[in-house]
Amino acid sequence: MKKLLKTTTSVLAGLTLSFSVLAAGGAPLDHANTDINDQKSLQNGASLFMNYCSGCHSIEFMRYNRIGKDLNISDADVEKNLMFSGDKIGGTITSSMSKAGAEKWFGTTPPDLSLVSRSKGVDWVYTYLRSFYKDDTRPFGVNNKILVNASMPDVLWELKQNKSAEDFDQDVRDITNFLDYVGEPAKLVRVDLGYKVLGFLFVLFILSYLLKKEYWKDVKYGKWRAKD
Ligand code: HEC
Repeated sequence: MKKLLKTTTSVLAGLTLSFSVLAAGGAPLDHANTDINDQKSLQNGASLFMNYCSGCHSIEFMRYNRIGKDLNISDADVEKNLMFSGDKIGGTITSSMSKAGAEKWFGTTPPDLSLVSRSKGVDWVYTYLRSFYKDDTRPFGVNNKILVNASMPDVLWELKQNKSAEDFDQDVRDITNFLDYVGEPAKLVRVDLGYKVLGFLFVLFILSYLLKKEYWKDVKYGKWRAKD
């Protein structure tokens, strides 16, 4: 029995260890501190994504007009600021790059980012975008600390140069926040609905309590039972 316990504990410890190592991917991650209810951040993130990322990455699970609706951007502004010519407001967000071209240029196709915030986590995305460093042995002259030998160029380098470190971090946070929203657009509705349901249950609780008191008054002192 003792031996069994010992083996189980060590297996469990091993599993926990390997999970945490896998989750961390080797390097420690910075906290993204995103807030999905921050509309300004989401709007800025959407605009940055369209300008700096959508040339290579699609977010095929998302439609332009859904973004407009969720982030309170009018259709006209979506068309003006977030879309490129030829796209339809009801269409999904595809990338303009051909698969064959991407293979040739990067050796791999830039993955669709619809679910990356969920598969890798927001902290990973946030840290990844801030972890490019100069490395002349790589085709684009940069490497990445947490995705070693990444075949993505440091697309935000110009932004990084023209901004204070704080503002740059905020921009990356906004892009990450946008990708978090994209990973589960219903989160906005779900969390909002959650508060309403809890509020309803609270009111129901008060009413039920009053009703219970009313009923038990009769049970205690009513027709069926003499007063104590
Ligand atoms: C010039 C094309 C290009 C642009 C622009 C670009 N990427 Fe990438 N991205 C890539 C390629 C190629 C990969 C695959 C890297 C690899 O696996 O080595 C990648 C990988 C990623 C990954 C990792 C995905 C995963 O599951 O491993 C994330 C996250 C990402 N990009 C986010 C972004 C964001 C956010 C932007 C905009 C700020 C952006 N990318 C702009 C080409 C691009």
